[in-house]
Amino acid sequence: MKDLITSVINHGQGVEDEAVDKNVFKDCSKIAFYRRQKQLLSKKSTYRALLDSVTPGEDSARFQIINEPAKVPLLAEVCGIEGNIFRLKINEEIPLKPRYEVPDVLTSKLTTVRLTSCPGDTGSLVLASGKGDLKCHITANPFKVDLVSEEEVVMSINSLGQLYFEQLQIPPKQRATKKNEEDASIDTTQENQEELGLWEEKFENFVDVKVNGPASIGLDFSLHGFEHLYGIPQHAESHQLKNTSDSDAYRLYNLDVYGYKIHDKMGIYGSVPYLLAHKLGRTLGIFWLNASETLVEIKTEPAVKYTLTQTGPVAAKQKVGSRTDVHWMSESGIIDVFLLTGPTPSDVFKQYSYLTGTQAMPPLFSLGYHQCRWNYEDEQDVKAVDAGFDEHDIPYDVMWLDIEHTEGKRYFTWDKKRFPNPKRMQDLLRSKKRKLVVISDPHVKVDPNYSVYAKAKEQGFFVRNHEGGDFEGVCWPGLSSYLDFTNPKVRKWYSSLFAFSVYQGSTDILHIWNDMNEPSVFKGPEQTMQKNAIHHGNWEHRELHNIYGFYQQMATTEGLIQRSKGKERPFVLTRSFFAGSQKYGAVWTGDNTAEWSHLKISIPMLLTLSVTGISFCGADVGGFIGDPEAELLVRWYQAGAYQPFFRGHATMNTKRREPWLFGEEHTRLIREAIRERYTLLPYWYSLFYSAHVASQPVMRPLWVEFPNELETFSVEDEYMLGGALLVHPVTEPKATVVDVFLPGSSEIWYDSKTFAHWKGACTVKIPVTLDAIPVFQRGGSVVPIKTTIGRSTGFMTNSPYGLRVALSTKGSAMGEFYLDDGHSFQYLHQKQFLHRKFSFSSGVLTNSCADERGHYPSKCVVEQILVLGLKKQPSSVTAHSADGSAQPVAFTYHATTSTLKLETLSLNIGADWKVRVQ
Ligand code: GLC
Repeated sequence: MKDLITSVINHGQGVEDEAVDKNVFKDCSKIAFYRRQKQLLSKKSTYRALLDSVTPGEDSARFQIINEPAKVPLLAEVCGIEGNIFRLKINEEIPLKPRYEVPDVLTSKLTTVRLTSCPGDTGSLVLASGKGDLKCHITANPFKVDLVSEEEVVMSINSLGQLYFEQLQIPPKQRATKKNEEDASIDTTQENQEELGLWEEKFENFVDVKVNGPASIGLDFSLHGFEHLYGIPQHAESHQLKNTSDSDAYRLYNLDVYGYKIHDKMGIYGSVPYLLAHKLGRTLGIFWLNASETLVEIKTEPAVKYTLTQTGPVAAKQKVGSRTDVHWMSESGIIDVFLLTGPTPSDVFKQYSYLTGTQAMPPLFSLGYHQCRWNYEDEQDVKAVDAGFDEHDIPYDVMWLDIEHTEGKRYFTWDKKRFPNPKRMQDLLRSKKRKLVVISDPHVKVDPNYSVYAKAKEQGFFVRNHEGGDFEGVCWPGLSSYLDFTNPKVRKWYSSLFAFSVYQGSTDILHIWNDMNEPSVFKGPEQTMQKNAIHHGNWEHRELHNIYGFYQQMATTEGLIQRSKGKERPFVLTRSFFAGSQKYGAVWTGDNTAEWSHLKISIPMLLTLSVTGISFCGADVGGFIGDPEAELLVRWYQAGAYQPFFRGHATMNTKRREPWLFGEEHTRLIREAIRERYTLLPYWYSLFYSAHVASQPVMRPLWVEFPNELETFSVEDEYMLGGALLVHPVTEPKATVVDVFLPGSSEIWYDSKTFAHWKGACTVKIPVTLDAIPVFQRGGSVVPIKTTIGRSTGFMTNSPYGLRVALSTKGSAMGEFYLDDGHSFQYLHQKQFLHRKFSFSSGVLTNSCADERGHYPSKCVVEQILVLGLKKQPSSVTAHSADGSAQPVAFTYHATTSTLKLETLSLNIGADWKVRVQ
């Protein structure tokens, strides 16, 4: 126990004081490259492009850009990428040494498109990608790029002249002998040294010595007509990005922030340097591919419809459009930016996943409920908790073990006293068709007798300190070294540790949780690794800090795939992430708090992850830190049941909170919430398939589904689950009524419990009890469900289906359904899947094939169909199979709610059939 308490204290926070100590972390004023850019931008002369050097007809246009103080020119390159994407790269033409370019994020298949150059005015160049109406106008002096669509400028780059590029220099000591080689752009006088932090930067007791000196970059983007921006996770902030004029910039720097403060722009566990902008008629994306510390400033000038110009004899009225300026700044690397031109939200999602990959298709079990705690103490405890779920008739799929399951936080081992027989424990879980997830962090206890340490040490697999030795820092096990996952050899080796023959006590039901991979270093600057630690290829940690966790998850995922010889889909949860992490599994929002405000912020935080490609995301149900009161816990389960990754978790000094510990009534409510999740599993699984193959987020902000409805652009207390369900979690205590906004003037919405309906484009007051949260089905949709719930997803494979058909104002509905074996890659390699389409029109519900390539035999039947919004009682209902035979179907019709129920059907889910309602 003493050991545990020391761990918590080491985490940087006292047990009693659970609020984050912000002094441990930097604000912008403490970041030297930010201060430099602010100070020097004003003094810098502007850049100009030498457009004469462009060779027409190539895949890309390259030209030099120069400004006076810089000695050597920069090289810019514009290229067109398949799917209406432009890429702009700016680097030094001949840097002193190579600058870091982020590898392994872009999918390898990027196809460039030939750019044609059209004549522009003198001093300009117009590039068109051939497809669509988009053109890139490059102006020479001052250098500026405009993205033009149908003669309208949608985005301008460097129109504010904030292009900033610190060229690598010879260190002052070596330079001293040479004359007049000072870079005139940087004032290196003694007084200014500290402020500028060129070769050395202090924070608290830490000194960051920079062998490469200043290397920061920056660029501005003006988005014309745009006021609504989203993205750049991870921050505990609203979904819509806020103006940063009066606050700190959004910081992207992966940090372990225990009990993070909400409504704050400080960097937390992960970073996706990608934002989306949306206005009526167009969605855009800007993907800034840089893995070093990054800051983003947002400045919105709202639309001023009429401005009075006082100069003329008569005051004239002039229309001024809105505009948002985005200023990206990174500590090092190069400028490598992708412009995703939409025009629809769905197009932007596709463009982004074309660059970084789509969401991995999760194994079905991982969409069930997960039960975690730091820690389930021993095998007995696991057994008792597992039995508790059965006793209380609550389904769950995954038991989790935190760091204490190991021998002194040596990952890949088991504490022999607590878990003497891990295989026996897994057999028990397997018998219930359940799984186990255990933790594996990136730090490795310094202990020559620990084989993982000894082998990694011997092979030089640790990150090194700047003096050349293995980097050592404190984390859970005490003194630790950190695996250098940026090295492909280390990844390969780490992956091999998951082989069943190597990982003693592991079985095929064991999956993995990667934590502390920002990386967290308890006594390090801002609780992370020194920026001058050295990685594979001699790159400094500063260059790639934000991508460290991405690589660990990548290696873990590959390890789990390999241990099954390529057959099984893995489940890997990570705390730290970067652009593209969606390819490897799930992400959660880290150490949140058992407070209503944290429940509330989970919605925008997950929406932000969702629109930046990471569909499989969740927040700890109940709040990790502190003890939730029963009402909060119930509300959290109700919300979590409608969030993609659904896990209850709690820190070690909290009271036990398994779902049955809060009295019978609360147990019932939690049971209902979890059962609702299992009821909707076919819908969840189908949505994940759509995320996987068609890049559409599972959890969607309203603006994504209603891009032409201005009122939806700022909504973040409710959201769409796929295209069919609108969910409004209750995030206030003692709520008796909730204001729900139902979008879309031509829509009709059905309360999923009472079946009452409302026309869209209004806010309705929905009375609530503790029984449920408001969920509405959109008219025009079909939602597949399970009608019988099992103890876990594994018990539900053959259980029957139901269809919830909600009719549109025109009396029609559509929906899709996806099914495969739920665990292997056969859906991919052997096309063993079923993809069906349900459509209802003119009184006929049709089940037809949505993808002829797929085949998957299923004995499952649709036994229930509920039609909402059927205005008149039918005289007969008949089921017609593909061979032409017809059967009458028993039905009940409720005139008060306009609902039709068919309850004794036996229609194969995978066969073509029709149900006729007359
Ligand atoms: C970190 C994780 C938390 C975990 C704990 C112990 O704080 O965020 O989920 O329980 O470490 O491993």
